[in-house]
Amino acid sequence: MNFINSFTLTGKQKEYLKDLTEKIKSIMSSSLYQHSINTLEYASTIAQKYLSDIEFFDLGVACILHDYGKVFNYEELVKIAKENELEVGSFELNSPLLLHSFVGDYLVLRDFNVSSSKILKAIKFHAIGYCNMNLADKILFIADKVEKSRNYNGVKKLRNLALKNINLCLLEVYKNNIIYIIKRNRFLHPDTVKIWNNICGGV
Ligand SMILES: [Fe+2]
Repeated sequence: MNFINSFTLTGKQKEYLKDLTEKIKSIMSSSLYQHSINTLEYASTIAQKYLSDIEFFDLGVACILHDYGKVFNYEELVKIAKENELEVGSFELNSPLLLHSFVGDYLVLRDFNVSSSKILKAIKFHAIGYCNMNLADKILFIADKVEKSRNYNGVKKLRNLALKNINLCLLEVYKNNIIYIIKRNRFLHPDTVKIWNNICGGV
């Protein structure tokens, strides 16, 4: 967690981020915990190039908690979404791989009392992105897919690209994601084309 010291956060903010990591350590599987910390670590490496300290605090919280929804199994997530009448569409409800993000914002508010709309939005859309993503959300989206435990062809190039050209990196990471899904004959989220065109500079 030393990398957090590269930012000028207040003592209270550092304490808060440390506390959050302790909490998720006791709740998550060790691999999910490690992925969350790795995402925070790589996001902080990218953020040092692009973000101010104030923005980093929100990004740090979002990184640590972005996969909290994965603590719950698919059936539990469906039940939570229905019982609480969350605004989750039928595609997401029927998507075991994506539902954790679309219920994640509700769970983070409920269980960690995080109410910042910026952080909640970052968590809700970390899996599929959205049009005109802000810089912090681009960083979370990328760090999630290129953190050090990720191991696929071209991941090192993407890690380096993130430090050189964040928008080009987002385009390459998004492209990889789409190819990964199609190769496995899985459904694409209906917003994917819209988001892809937006990232390409289209409509
Ligand atoms: Fe993740």
